[in-house]
Amino acid sequence: MAVETSAPVFQNYIAGKWVPAAGGKTFQRENPADWREIVGVAQDSGVEEVARAVEAAAVALPAWRALSAVARGEYLRRAADALERRAEDVARTMTREMGKTIGEARAETLRGVTILRYYAGEGMREIGAVVPSVDPRQLLFTTRVPLGVVAVVTPWNFPVAIPCWKIAPALVYGNTVVFKPASYTPVTAAKVVEAFIEAGLPEGVLNFVTGRGGVVGQALAEHPLVNGITFTGSNEVGKQVAAAALARGAKYQLEMGGKNPVIVCEDADMAQAVELTVSGAMRTTGQRCTATSRAIVLRPVLKEFTERVVARVRELKVGPGLDESVYLGPQVSRSQRETVLGYIEKGKQEGARLLVGGGVPTGELYDHGYYVEPTVFDHVTPEMTIAQEEIFGPVLAIMAADSLEQAIAIANGVKYGLSASIFTHDINKILTFIQSIEAGMVRINGETAGVEPQAPFGGMKASSSHSREQGRAALEFFTSVKTVTVARAG
Ligand code: UN1
Repeated sequence: MAVETSAPVFQNYIAGKWVPAAGGKTFQRENPADWREIVGVAQDSGVEEVARAVEAAAVALPAWRALSAVARGEYLRRAADALERRAEDVARTMTREMGKTIGEARAETLRGVTILRYYAGEGMREIGAVVPSVDPRQLLFTTRVPLGVVAVVTPWNFPVAIPCWKIAPALVYGNTVVFKPASYTPVTAAKVVEAFIEAGLPEGVLNFVTGRGGVVGQALAEHPLVNGITFTGSNEVGKQVAAAALARGAKYQLEMGGKNPVIVCEDADMAQAVELTVSGAMRTTGQRCTATSRAIVLRPVLKEFTERVVARVRELKVGPGLDESVYLGPQVSRSQRETVLGYIEKGKQEGARLLVGGGVPTGELYDHGYYVEPTVFDHVTPEMTIAQEEIFGPVLAIMAADSLEQAIAIANGVKYGLSASIFTHDINKILTFIQSIEAGMVRINGETAGVEPQAPFGGMKASSSHSREQGRAALEFFTSVKTVTVARAG
């Protein structure tokens, strides 16, 4: 059904043209800080649009992969400049569309620019190795070729950075792309695509299809011409993507949930531990797969840490992200808020002690947004639901430990293994932690969230498909290795 509204309409981008979905089906995206505002209208696409986009990418592939990687990198450099010019508009759109604060949205957009520049340079780096052959007269070497057509399926919590860190390496290594953004952030995503268009990409190299994950994402995972699919999102959907890709022999890469701990030792710098735990838990309203959701604290400092965290959390300003003084905005949607409030209820029922927050803030400012108060529990034990499941909201569980060994056992006692941090000055504790923590991202005296784009990113256990993204790690997913032996004729 077509929606009547004065909000801007964004179309799909297929084979170099902005086009509506068949039958004119659209959906609208509201501002989670004030649901009366419609940020934009996007196409509610079906399998037909997916087929057209995949075919356009397949048609564009031979010419694109025939370019030198250096030439492909030049397009990314221009896309970076275009995104940088649009940065303020993109950041404000992001805040209006998914709720994170304007400061975080600006930083994320500039991170996107940096990622594009990094991968522009990647077009000039080596892609293979010369290997000694048993026959000294022959040349043995490896090189890499693009996968082909790649589907990029991204979440709403980083609507610029994650598309950039998937699309940019896909393109520079010679793949063509169909990009499907999360249904909560089609407008921000369309603005990222506009930056690529401004860079002058040949038609069909980057295609953009919005719609429901169960329809568009599923159709992409199942399409026979899609050679690889890279996905960031929930574990439930990730499993479906992987199953569909595996069934037809396509390559897949998944980045999914986390239940990230910090361990606070007796000798921690307490001010640092408190500040970075609170920002890890509460920034982006806790809606990051790298968010801190458990603070495992050694008993001698448990009381002090808990009191200081609660005092700090009481100071945090909740409100619309466009207000520069706000620390945390709303949840992305009504259903996300319901989920988070459900977990808070579970925490209370299962015997955790609510120290601060736990409800919905009230008053004019909050009445039309999906707000949740920043929430801290203590007396949380390892088997409780709020100590095991990913909440994706501003909820921190404080847990007690009697020794570092016990703290690490608690930290590892969940199905996830994305990010983890320890606060201490003690080199022996640090080394023990590095060796025994089950996490792909290991921090010492750092926040669990926040990643540098030039380093590999990914998790262990249920957090990822055991692959890594970003930095040079992206080469592994977006290419296939050819091992070449060259012997003399005769
Ligand atoms: C970050 O912590 O800055 O979806 C990045 C997520 C992760 C990215 C986190 N894939 O939250």
